[in-house]
Amino acid sequence: MREGYTVAVVGAGLVGDRLVAELRRRDFPMRELRVLARSARQAVLAGETFEVGVAEPEAFEGVDIAFFAGTEGEKGAAVQLAEEAISRGAIVIDNGSDFRLDPGVPLVVPEVNAEALGEHEGLIANANCSTIQMVVTLAPLAREFGLKKIVVSTYQAVSGSGRSGVDALENGREDVYPKPITGNVIPLIGGVGEDGYTTEETKMREESRKILGLPDLEVFATTVRIPVHTGHSESVYVETEREATLDQVLDLLREAPGVEFSGDASDFPTPLEVAGAPGTRVGRVRVEGNAIQYWCVADNLLKGAATNAVQIAESLVGVAQARA
Ligand SMILES: NC(=O)c1ccc[n+]([C@@H]2O[C@H](COP(=O)([O-])OP(=O)(O)OC[C@H]3O[C@@H](n4cnc5c(N)ncnc54)[C@H](OP(=O)(O)O)[C@@H]3O)[C@@H](O)[C@H]2O)c1
Repeated sequence: MREGYTVAVVGAGLVGDRLVAELRRRDFPMRELRVLARSARQAVLAGETFEVGVAEPEAFEGVDIAFFAGTEGEKGAAVQLAEEAISRGAIVIDNGSDFRLDPGVPLVVPEVNAEALGEHEGLIANANCSTIQMVVTLAPLAREFGLKKIVVSTYQAVSGSGRSGVDALENGREDVYPKPITGNVIPLIGGVGEDGYTTEETKMREESRKILGLPDLEVFATTVRIPVHTGHSESVYVETEREATLDQVLDLLREAPGVEFSGDASDFPTPLEVAGAPGTRVGRVRVEGNAIQYWCVADNLLKGAATNAVQIAESLVGVAQARA
């Protein structure tokens, strides 16, 4: 048994699977790795067989770090069990949306606001998948030029909806999306609010503001589900306070932590190439005065969830987090 932390992964779905994979790939120092879900059984995660335990308060005894990747809401794992885990001494890193906008909970993308970790009281939130890849690309532009307005359209993979989304695409399951996903494009992710924005669009606005520390930033999102297995793509338009040149923006993106960019303005990443990669890839960069446009793609289960969560844990325990 190696020296290190006792780690729990709550949820044995798509994100739970990638969390195990990332903890192993990044060699996170662990003395024990527990997997917890609603029911006890044997399950294979990232090629490894686990005796999955029931997620109940006692299961967190002795746990140092608990990654939550269960479903959200009142009956979800984080609402039911995060406090129980914290009261037993664990630090909780939650992939769900239940606590992201709580003022007492840091919402962290380590390349952007790792300093917010200093204020945690046991619970740290991982941002929404489509928000994470966008703020990683926006952060260097914010520092250099100042941000006024963002207009973003997303092209989101079905694995963003967990196992049920994959089932809808691969097996025609009909109760997951409001219209068929096969051969289709659905411009509605989550419920629609009174203002006409969907929950996913509101998450992109509010979470971006919190992570970037720009409470008045204008963010107009249209979030769209497409029949792709893994990898979210985004078309991003940025209006800056100060004028930029193409060369300046290309240089900034080439150097930006967590961003992979060839430097070729006509280059374009696609979900098929990006699925399985830990970073955010950028292409199709265009700049005109105060307007910057680009395309960015990331694996929603990795940088959009598991990789970001493990990077948070690495930052907490002081392991170099720039290995993605
Ligand atoms: N998929 C993505 O791209 C993505 C990205 C960012 C964030 N997230 C968030 O990450 C979380 C997990 O997503 P996913 O895609 O992995 O979903 P998933 O494939 O549907 O898996 C959900 C897992 O959560 C477990 N679970 C549900 N309620 C639980 C509870 N009360 N206690 C313990 N375990 C519980 C389920 O357990 P059983 O197997 O026993 O039923 C299942 O293993 C969600 O909050 C999601 O919003 C997902």
